[in-house]
Amino acid sequence: MDDKNKVLVTGGAGYIGSHTVVELVAAGYTPVIIDNYSNAEPSVLKGIEKIAGTPIKFYEGDCNDVSYVENLLRTEKNIQGIIHFAAYKAVGESVLEPVKYYENNIGSLLVLLKLMKKYNIPDIVFSSSCTVYGQPDQLPVTEKTPKKPAESPYGNTKQVCEEILEDTVNSYFQNKNEQHNLKAIALRYFNPVGAHPSSLIGELPLGVPNNLVPFITQTAVGLREKIVVFGDNYNTPDGTCIRDYIHVVDLAKAHVKALEYLSNQEKAQFFDTFNIGTGGGNTVLEVIKTFEKVSDQKLNYEIGPRREGDVEQIYANVEKSNTVLGWQAILGLEESLRDSWAWQLALKKANE
Ligand code: WQD
Repeated sequence: MDDKNKVLVTGGAGYIGSHTVVELVAAGYTPVIIDNYSNAEPSVLKGIEKIAGTPIKFYEGDCNDVSYVENLLRTEKNIQGIIHFAAYKAVGESVLEPVKYYENNIGSLLVLLKLMKKYNIPDIVFSSSCTVYGQPDQLPVTEKTPKKPAESPYGNTKQVCEEILEDTVNSYFQNKNEQHNLKAIALRYFNPVGAHPSSLIGELPLGVPNNLVPFITQTAVGLREKIVVFGDNYNTPDGTCIRDYIHVVDLAKAHVKALEYLSNQEKAQFFDTFNIGTGGGNTVLEVIKTFEKVSDQKLNYEIGPRREGDVEQIYANVEKSNTVLGWQAILGLEESLRDSWAWQLALKKANE
């Protein structure tokens, strides 16, 4: 592959990063991964290469280590763009260890921005999150829906990173003496779920999963005794929270679309945000029932108390992503849960 489409993917061995690397190769890009394996395993690289059918350049390193990243950029010449996934993302952990989250999630972006300026790398796609909206007053949320104070240090790092990108782009635009190109897109993910249909890559939650779907599949495969539904007294059709669950392969493809959009962007300085969801919402009980249907497994669940910090319902208005990026989700909840279950069974088989 020619270097014209060389892209640095930070956190590229992670859940969303690994699926995005697969889609980048399929779209003719040359991805280069940097990952410190803080939330990924070396086996992921084998899975990516098996699907992609080609070796993937990989650097085991930390995006906060400016000399390491600079050496990588000196070695890997002609990097055109960066997709920045590398960040800590456990909401609960961020409440207990805010300094670790601010240092890592914000520090890594600052390192990248400094080096993008030094090495004239124009494009960056930033992994943001719907948590920037908090509990929105209007639904579905558009990109113009006012951001609310973050519910956690994790969510705040996403808000702050978006502001850093916007401020940096504006500063380059205003500074006519020292022109730098910086074009940035923040993709605001809703709830990523599912796995690659090959079952060669998927979500690898370390320890007890925080998120609903891996907890469901681990319960169904016998790793967990039961799943607790965090509250059924919300103001929703069945009393449980509503989320916009998006298949990770659809989400990965959105990153390719965002890169293409940036490379075609005429403006030398550009910043914009996009909601990446399906545009619909499902309750927790609907997810459980759908899982039971696609897996033909009865789930052992019980209703428990609400979880601190949960918003009642949030789902995306995806018109802007559809019309401006030319992207839309095509896989639904059934496909997501079917692929998550197949992945969980593949993990079980691999560990037998
Ligand atoms: C979904 C729903 C829970 C587990 C978080 C982050 C977000 C993004 C995705 C990183 C909620 C309910 C869950 C369980 C349950 N992460 N639930 N029992 O909280 O919407 O979003 O993960 O980018 O930024 O905020 O996802 O999967 O934890 O919860 O009832 O054992 O499932 O209450 O309603 P969430 P989740």
